[in-house]
Amino acid sequence: MHPLHHLLLLLPLVTLCLTTTASSPPNGFMRLGDLKFPNMTLEHLDPTLPPVLPGQTPKCSVIVLQRDFADTVGDPPASANYTQPQDCPAPWTRVVLELSVSASGLQKDRIAAVWVDGVEVLRTTTPVPMSPGAFWKVTKDITRYASAIRRLGDHNGVVSMMLENSNAELPGVYSANVSLHFYRGAVTSQPNSYSAHPTIKGLYKEPADLIIPVIREDGFNGGGFWFKIESDAITATTSVEIPRNAYRAVLELFVSYHGDDEFWYTNPLRSSYVQGADLSTPRTNGGFRQVYATIDGKFVGGHIPIVVIYPGSINPFFWSPVAAIGAFDMPSYDLDITPFLGMLLDGRPHEFGFGVHDSQPYWLVGANLHVWVDLWSDVTQAGLIDYNAPPLKVNRNAAWRNQDGQSEIDAEGLLRFIGWVSSSKGNLTTVVRQKTKFKSQVEVQNRGAVRQVEMINKRRMMVGLVKGHQALARVQLMVDAPLQVQTSSVNTAGGAVFQKTRLYHQLQEIVELSEGQAVSVGTLTDRQDAEGSALLHDGEPVWGSGATRSSYKFRDENTCYLRAVNTAGGLVQFDTTSGSCLGAAEEKGKRSAV
Ligand SMILES: *[C@@H]1O[C@H](CO)[C@@H](O)[C@H](O)[C@H]1NC(C)=O
Ligand SMILES: *[C@@H]1O[C@H](CO)[C@@H](O)[C@H](O)[C@H]1NC(C)=O
Ligand SMILES: *[C@@H]1O[C@H](CO)[C@@H](O)[C@H](O)[C@H]1NC(C)=O
Ligand SMILES: *[C@@H]1O[C@H](CO)[C@@H](O)[C@H](O)[C@H]1NC(C)=O
Repeated sequence: MHPLHHLLLLLPLVTLCLTTTASSPPNGFMRLGDLKFPNMTLEHLDPTLPPVLPGQTPKCSVIVLQRDFADTVGDPPASANYTQPQDCPAPWTRVVLELSVSASGLQKDRIAAVWVDGVEVLRTTTPVPMSPGAFWKVTKDITRYASAIRRLGDHNGVVSMMLENSNAELPGVYSANVSLHFYRGAVTSQPNSYSAHPTIKGLYKEPADLIIPVIREDGFNGGGFWFKIESDAITATTSVEIPRNAYRAVLELFVSYHGDDEFWYTNPLRSSYVQGADLSTPRTNGGFRQVYATIDGKFVGGHIPIVVIYPGSINPFFWSPVAAIGAFDMPSYDLDITPFLGMLLDGRPHEFGFGVHDSQPYWLVGANLHVWVDLWSDVTQAGLIDYNAPPLKVNRNAAWRNQDGQSEIDAEGLLRFIGWVSSSKGNLTTVVRQKTKFKSQVEVQNRGAVRQVEMINKRRMMVGLVKGHQALARVQLMVDAPLQVQTSSVNTAGGAVFQKTRLYHQLQEIVELSEGQAVSVGTLTDRQDAEGSALLHDGEPVWGSGATRSSYKFRDENTCYLRAVNTAGGLVQFDTTSGSCLGAAEEKGKRSAV
């Protein structure tokens, strides 16, 4: 917590800013769009993932879409026809997407996404450009979507991008180039898990044979491909038909949160769940959400999303010029639905549905269905053996007196799905198990002036493949994503609010892959600590300062990658990377189990 007397000491300074006409900000402070700071780093960066395939020349690179996004609210996705270069045929050992964006002027942060023939390959946020000329680059290994890219080239498909922007308040126009880089031959690279956040893909070394977009059907006509989910009560649905010779299926969900739910993870619990509570504001239903999917109305899995802090959130000066964890490449969530294949192999369309528990307007949800097909069979057979999906056990507690008090939501649960699939590979059983442990706590003191948010979000996911009584392979993913935010506010002369904030968040992912006797473990620890202040006018920051320390560590049996980036006052203070894991041993004991 920040002791209050610190704030009081700062008060005269703040009053000064308000009365002098913004010509000379106090030391270390930035004003949004202040050109008197020529040293401000214009390039925004993601301090996390190592560059994809450094030092290797792609076989070919293609700019697939170029577009300026000015006033684009409600517009259909920007789309461009695609032709695969003749000298760059499939298959490829690696495909890398590059999104390069610049901003012409001040603007708010926005959500954007890129689709390849309706298959979402990237969901991202734009930084808050604090100065004209701000620019950044997002690169992502999209080899996982190779079958969609191949199809794109085979039938002159379409690459699309959405970025709903508005010039009603601020002039900034976003100019974007989307490129694809194709690699053939050996890629002297790190293991695949090195260049993307590990997901449950461990078992699936070969990308899916087919990726079916599970999206809004009229996506090209405004509104886009994603489903807009307005409340807890709404499930978006669409129908999907899969090949009858599928032997494995993974549903990948992309989500982002908007409007009243943009800061869902900081929401106190004050409303309907608590007797006599204040129902006047929508942002008081607590910091718990669960995104889930259904097939023909049956629940097939869900996730409590990892918090991705948007660049305009909490304190925008923290995120200039570094992006928060996951902000440039928002994590997607894999649900292995192989145990449910028995419902889907009849050659008929089935209804896929999506919802977000406890949500408020609105969430944008889209999905890709990754399907592996058995070329040696016309029809595979499958059946569900065990279905154990009790709803998460959620406890809600709140005690408030006027503005002050505290609330807590705990959630815990265990899912287990087991199913068999008989194909040319034999009769294999897939076991999917997921354990979730979650807690959101919000505490408000000093008549609303001091606020503390704490979140624990842990998940352990296991997918195993069994033949008879013999375990063939198993992948385990453990995710631990804690968050802490402490804010103190003081009302200043002129109706402004001076806010001091301290933040800590982390994303730790441990992937353990066992095949027969061989076991490999990859550990990623991505952490950020930030501290700073902002002066808010009508809720919008006008002055501010922020310092952020980011550290990223990935390690497996063969490799280690460390990166540390410190930024303060809009500048990179240092940015170091290392391929050596000195001192890595200390991490060993820290594998947190759910
Ligand atoms: C900006 O850079 C110049 C030259 O590199 C330096 O003299 C000046 O002190 C810097 N200003 C700030 C605010 O860091
Ligand atoms: C893409 O191709 C279709 C027909 O093949 C054509 O009607 C359309 O105008 C093309 N779009 C662009 C952006 O060139
Ligand atoms: C997009 O590509 C063009 C060249 O085709 C280049 O002039 C422009 O600067 C690029 N824009 C961005 C934002 O990378
Ligand atoms: C596959 O194995 C399961 C039990 O694990 C059994 O119930 C099912 O009948 C078998 N399917 C075929 C086609 O043999």
